[in-house]
Amino acid sequence: MMANKIAKMTVIGTGALGTQIAILSASFGYEVAAFDIDEKSYKRAIDNFKTVIKFSEKKPLLTIDEWEKGADKVSFHNELGAAVQDADLVIEAAPENVALKRGIFEKLDKLAPRPAILATNSSSIPISRIESATTRPERCVNIHFYSLVMGVNMADVMGGTKTTADTMETAASWVRSLGCIPLTVKKETLGFCFNRVWRTVKREVLHMWAGGFVDFKDIDRAWMISYGTPQGPFGMMDRVGLDVVYDIEMVYYNETKDPKDYPPEALKKMVDRKELGIKTQKGFYTYPDPEYSRPEFLQNP
Ligand SMILES: NC(=O)c1ccc[n+]([C@@H]2O[C@H](COP(=O)([O-])OP(=O)(O)OC[C@H]3O[C@@H](n4cnc5c(N)ncnc54)[C@H](O)[C@@H]3O)[C@@H](O)[C@H]2O)c1
Repeated sequence: MMANKIAKMTVIGTGALGTQIAILSASFGYEVAAFDIDEKSYKRAIDNFKTVIKFSEKKPLLTIDEWEKGADKVSFHNELGAAVQDADLVIEAAPENVALKRGIFEKLDKLAPRPAILATNSSSIPISRIESATTRPERCVNIHFYSLVMGVNMADVMGGTKTTADTMETAASWVRSLGCIPLTVKKETLGFCFNRVWRTVKREVLHMWAGGFVDFKDIDRAWMISYGTPQGPFGMMDRVGLDVVYDIEMVYYNETKDPKDYPPEALKKMVDRKELGIKTQKGFYTYPDPEYSRPEFLQNP
């Protein structure tokens, strides 16, 4: 069922997450437009899905064929104004940088129809840090999807200082209409609902690895044995992208200025070397055949 009031939507930034949101929405009957400053990003993201789906522990929302078929239903624009001119909802999925996102929201506010909801898919930045770049804070909202290609069918929905109940409800019912569960955050908090839990895990394991306390593979083994998942936190971070992980850690650090929240230098070095995880074929593991996917990874030697 289509969410009330939303028929046309636009995705800004068709990297890993934006591409998933665009294709899922098109597959569920929405008219979807997209814009990215790099027009090759869309195809690149779809190519990456193939590797990601291979390591998925859950049944993906769509099969790889359906992702590829759905991809043709999204209309791509080279100009931001054309992409958003009829939108009821715009969701931004550009890199995790508050200044960049504020710049995009300022433009969206000028170019998108007045009643349109402006949402960010940011993994960490609360909408209250972005809403003042617009003249419609009551229509601004966080809608944070998790990895849809991995079958994680949920999204946090969180308002800022002026977001109306109507905007929250429209956002939540749009999420529901895509076969996803909205996790409504009642009071703004860094990390939303589940991401805050996942972030605590990341901070701990990154410091255990970078401090030389344990081999990261043993952490992944322990996680996989305990929770029955096909990879552990390091494999999961490879999937997210280590540049994205680093940027998110910096958002938390900038919030608290607590040295314990500062991401390890060793992670920064990996990002500088472009060892970003699945998307560059190398991160903590090497792809497309990472050690954790081999039976011997969990076997007693
Ligand atoms: N990767 C994940 O698992 C994940 C999960 C949930 C949320 N997110 C969030 O989604 C957002 C995007 O993350 P991603 O992993 O898809 O990143 P990505 O690097 O794969 O994609 C970002 C895209 O934005 C484009 N872009 C850069 N500047 C732009 C601009 N000014 N206008 C339009 N497009 C622009 C880039 O060309 C790129 O294609 C981030 O805020 C991230 O925190 C990521």
